Amino acid sequence: ALRRAGNIHWQHVDVDKQARARSKGQSPRCVWFTGLSGSGKSTIANLVEKRLHAQGHHTYILDGDNVRHGLNKDLGFTDEDRVENIRRVAEVAKLMTDAGLIVLVSFISPFRAERRMARELFAPDEFVEVYVDTPLAVAEDRDVKGLYAKARAGKIPNFTGIDSPYEAPEAPELVLDTVSEDAETLAQRVIDRLLG
Ligand code: PPS
Repeated sequence: ALRRAGNIHWQHVDVDKQARARSKGQSPRCVWFTGLSGSGKSTIANLVEKRLHAQGHHTYILDGDNVRHGLNKDLGFTDEDRVENIRRVAEVAKLMTDAGLIVLVSFISPFRAERRMARELFAPDEFVEVYVDTPLAVAEDRDVKGLYAKARAGKIPNFTGIDSPYEAPEAPELVLDTVSEDAETLAQRVIDRLLG
C-alpha cells in the first residue's frame, strides 16, 4: 500500500511550464503510445523522436523496457505492478512536460483506467494518445524478441494478450495501423498531428 505523507504543501515556483517551453520554442506535449508487446511502439516513437530532434525540438522517450531497468526495476507484470508502473511513468511524463519537453511515452499500458488517469494529469491539448494497432496474431507472428513463443510455452506468466488482458483504447487521438502502413509513414502521421 502507498503511504501518503501529511503536512505537505505545494511549493509555488515562478518560472512555469509555458515559460520553460517558450525558451525552447515549442509547446510541451505528452505523446502516449499504447499497444501490445511487439506492436511497434518503440520503433515508431524512436522515428518520431529522431525527426523532432532534427527539427530542433527538445524531446525525451520514456520506454517500458528502459524505465523497468531503473526507476521501476522493483516492478513485475502482475496487474498491480503494471498499475504502479503506469502511475509512476505518467507522473514522470508530467514532470517532463512541466520542464517544457515533448515526451514520448512508450509502454504497453494495457488498462483503460490507468491511461485515463494519465490523461487527467495533463491539459486536454497536451495529451495525445496513440494506439499502435497491431493485432495479436501479427505481433505474435513477428515475435521480434521471441517472447510470445516463450509465453505460449508457459515460460512467461501474465503475458499481455496471452494470459493478461489488453484493453484497446476507445477514443485515442490517433490509431496507427501497422499492417497496412510502414513505420516511417506512421511516424510522420504522429508528427503531423503534433505540429500540424
Ligand atoms: S506495462 O504493461 O505497460 O506495465 O508493460 P511495459 O512496462 O511497457 O513493459 C513491456 C515490456 O516488457 C517485456 N515483458 C513483458 N511484456 C508483457 N507481459 C509480460 N509478462 C512481459 N514480461 C516482459 C516486453 O519486452 C515488453 O516490451 P515491448 O516493447 O512492449 O514489446
